[in-house]
Amino acid sequence: MDHSQPRTTRRLSADPSGISEAAALLRTGGLVAFPTETVYGLGADAMNGQAIAALYQAKGRPQFNPLIVHLADIDDLSRIAVSNPRVIKLAEVFWPGPLTLVLPSSSESPISDLALAGLASVAVRIPGSSTARALIREAGVPIAAPSANRSGRVSPTTAHHVLDDLDGRIDAVVEGDPSHVGVESTIVSLIGDRPILLRPGGVSREALETVLGEVLGEPERHPLSDHHPIAPGMLHSHYAPRAMVRLEADRIAPGEAALLFGPAEPAGLRDAVAKINLSPMGHLAEAAAALFASLRALDESGAAVIAVAPIPQIGLGEAINDRLQRAAAPRL
Ligand code: TXA
Ligand code: MG
Repeated sequence: MDHSQPRTTRRLSADPSGISEAAALLRTGGLVAFPTETVYGLGADAMNGQAIAALYQAKGRPQFNPLIVHLADIDDLSRIAVSNPRVIKLAEVFWPGPLTLVLPSSSESPISDLALAGLASVAVRIPGSSTARALIREAGVPIAAPSANRSGRVSPTTAHHVLDDLDGRIDAVVEGDPSHVGVESTIVSLIGDRPILLRPGGVSREALETVLGEVLGEPERHPLSDHHPIAPGMLHSHYAPRAMVRLEADRIAPGEAALLFGPAEPAGLRDAVAKINLSPMGHLAEAAAALFASLRALDESGAAVIAVAPIPQIGLGEAINDRLQRAAAPRL
């Protein structure tokens, strides 16, 4: 398949016939977007270097940024990664689900070096979405899948978002349900002596620490640093809508769009160009599920600035605030 040319993007249904067509495309080196419970992923055969190169190209992604390898079953883990007792503990509770573990690569790993960006470690996840697992199982290969957006843009939580960014650049999208978690998986490194939280996400820090019975360490360098990113994907500006994003807004200026949380009504709301409340009752899981679609929708209002109300830094709030800080970061 030639991936340098524009392609017709097929829309496949999330039923057995759609999944089997999608799996056939993946087996032959195609690029297929599919639903997961966190965000839609853009899948390619993780063992096929050419398919991975095409995937980076379709996203416009810097090639030093490694991909998460998605598996359908834990039995497939030992082929690509070296396990340890913490993996067993976490997998029992959180897999399938929105947790990615960074582990040492196995010596005979079939994963393409390009997918690993040359690292000796591999990030692995078994997604909670049954459509995703059915697709991976039927493809019969490990699937590398970043979020199915153009690099640096807001992650997609619907098939429609995927087409907005990637129509004509990928072979197919499986049109499943909207992603109900709404933020990407939590990434935990289990490579060193202590577990390290590399990216907050769909499983909260508190839940992980309870299951592990130990405190998660922080990355050595600040994850928002552009210079030596820990998870190489942790570049400063990310998830960026076209509008500027202003955080911790307790009042809305005329002409701004408002992204709200909870029952409080900030001053100036009446003059907002557009407004969306992520969760009027103040539920963080509901807010996470609505986050990316709301950023896209407020961006479409044409407002120059999206003002965002404060969101508590607990549970899923940590992942929500992480994504909002990246959306607000200076553009490079
Ligand atoms: O929820 C998710 O994780 C979604 C869905 C599609 O599964 N995927 C996703 O992939 O968010 P992506 O490519 O947008 O983010 C992967 C992150 C990047 O920050 C990358 O640097 C990091 O994982 N990563 C991958 N391999 C790594 C490794 N060996 N060590 C440290 N970080 C790694
Ligand atoms: Mg992404």
